[in-house]
Amino acid sequence: MQRLLTGLQPSGALHIGNYLGALKPFVGMYEEYESILMVADYHALTTLKDPVQLRQNILDVVRDYVAVGVDPKKALIFQQSEVQAHTELTWIFNTLITMSFLELAHAYKDKEARGIERTVGLFDYPVLMAADILLYDTDVVPVGQDQKQHVEYAREIAGKFNTAYGETFKMPKEQIRKDEASVPGTDGKKMSKSYGNTIPLFGTYEEIQKAVMGIITDSSGESPSNVYNIHRLLKSESELAPVYKANKGNYKASKEALIADIEAVVGPMREKRASITDADVKAILKDGGGKARARAEKKMLDVRKKIGVKI
Ligand code: ADP
Ligand code: TRP
Repeated sequence: MQRLLTGLQPSGALHIGNYLGALKPFVGMYEEYESILMVADYHALTTLKDPVQLRQNILDVVRDYVAVGVDPKKALIFQQSEVQAHTELTWIFNTLITMSFLELAHAYKDKEARGIERTVGLFDYPVLMAADILLYDTDVVPVGQDQKQHVEYAREIAGKFNTAYGETFKMPKEQIRKDEASVPGTDGKKMSKSYGNTIPLFGTYEEIQKAVMGIITDSSGESPSNVYNIHRLLKSESELAPVYKANKGNYKASKEALIADIEAVVGPMREKRASITDADVKAILKDGGGKARARAEKKMLDVRKKIGVKI
């Protein structure tokens, strides 16, 4: 069985764009591979410096993934910070790669352009991500298009290490979500928490209702395209055609139909999420952390021997 690893940023409440674009297409896939889901809390530290918020986000991201259908008995779920080998291996890799290599990273350049403080951690972000991937002899890394270059970095770093010290790390492959549905937000632009145009995934019914009722509609057409473009990601065109025909000119009715269809998907997941306690999450992470640590430690033994620190 091939091994899959992906990192989950504990970055706050998910929206239905995250769900339809990133979570839903992968929930089934996690069962076809030996899957590892890592909560990238040390990556999050490059942008989130509020301990109360970080703690909450870590608990929430695990709850979110389990609520949408990831089975913690089948997939290994753990926290990056619980396995020290990640930061240790980052240091070893740091001694092999150059500043100019990292300066080419798009994500870093984007953040720099947005005026985010250029910490050493932000700069070194791709190296920590390479360590995450390479420590577990990962075959496949499912990521969004924006992370493709980081997986290429992991391959390059593996190559550099293998050339310097002998064959040690497996070459991982990214698996980019093709045809990723770009879910539009309430203003018709791509739904994103940075645009404030989201429909929350685990919001209350009232919150979802408020977001959908706030979808911007123009008064020119017979059916509201901003409503329809979200709706068609939940139901087929043939199912929607009669609904929109009956609601012609009545935008409110179309929005109500969308609310009902979102609720049909989200309702059961929200209920499941509410049933997962902090203690449940901590138990999942404790179990996963132990397993991940054992695997990583085995790999590090080989690495330490190869580089010559194990005397
Ligand atoms: P945001 O843009 O809200 O900050 P993130 O960058 O945290 O979202 O995205 C997390 C994951 O969800 C990414 O893999 C991304 O591809 C996916 N995603 C985010 N927004 C959308 C969207 N509007 N449509 C489809 N997928 C999305
Ligand atoms: N950088 C990834 C993101 O922002 C998260 C991540 C951290 C990751 N480590 C990883 C993804 C390892 C895949 C594999 O989405």
